[in-house]
Amino acid sequence: MKNIVVLVSGNGTNLQAIIDACDSDITNGKVTAVFSNKADAFALERAKQAGASAIFVDPKSFDTRDAFDRSLMEQIDQFEPTLIILAGYMRILSGEFVRHYMGKMINIHPSLLPKYPGLNTYQRAILAGDEEHGTSVHFVTEQLDGGPVILQAKVPIDDDDTIDTLTKKVQTEEHRIYPLVAKWFIEERVRMENGIAYFDDKELGVHGYTGPHN
Ligand code: GAR
Repeated sequence: MKNIVVLVSGNGTNLQAIIDACDSDITNGKVTAVFSNKADAFALERAKQAGASAIFVDPKSFDTRDAFDRSLMEQIDQFEPTLIILAGYMRILSGEFVRHYMGKMINIHPSLLPKYPGLNTYQRAILAGDEEHGTSVHFVTEQLDGGPVILQAKVPIDDDDTIDTLTKKVQTEEHRIYPLVAKWFIEERVRMENGIAYFDDKELGVHGYTGPHN
C-alpha cells in the first residue's frame, strides 16, 4: 500500500474526494496523514473520521518559514509518503520544502493555468469577461502555481454566475479530477522529469492531459 499525505488549510472537500477514492478506485493508495496549518480546519475532522493521523502544526511556534517547513518535512517523512497532495493548503512553501518533494508533490489550483496564478481567480475571471473558467492539477515546483499541468477541467461562465455559483461549478470538477490524478500517480502513469510532466510516457503540453477525462 502506498502512503498519501495531504496538506490542508480549510474545509477539505478535495481531501474528502481523495479519501473516498482510496476506498474505491485507488486500490493501492491510502491517506495516512493530514497536516494543517490551521487548528480549526474542518479537513482535520474529515481525516480523523477516515482513521488518518490529523496533525495541526502551528506556524506561530516557529520563527521563520524555513523552520516551520523543516519541522513539517520531518513529520511528513515519518509517514514515508509516495505522494504529497496539497488540497487547499494556503501557505507559501519554502524552496527547500519544494525541492525535497520534487516530482512527488501535486497541487490543485482554481484556474486554467497558466491563466490566473495566485489568489481571487474566480473574481478575476468574471471581471475579465471570460467565457470559461476551471481548475488545474499540477506538479509543484519553485514557481508559484507554475509547475507542469497534469489535468485541467473547464466550466462555462454564464451571465448570471457569481463567485459563489462559479466556485461550486469548479469545485464539482475538482472533486472529479483530483482523485483521478492521484490514482494515475499511484499507478505510476504520471510523473515529472526535468520540469516536464508525462502521462503514459507521453510528454504533456501546457494544458496537461487532453482526452476523455477533461
Ligand atoms: C480548492 O477549491 C482549491 O482549488 C483551492 O482551495 C480550495 C480548497 O477547498 N486552492 C487554492 O486556491 C490554492 N491556491 P477544499 O478545502 O474544500 O478542498
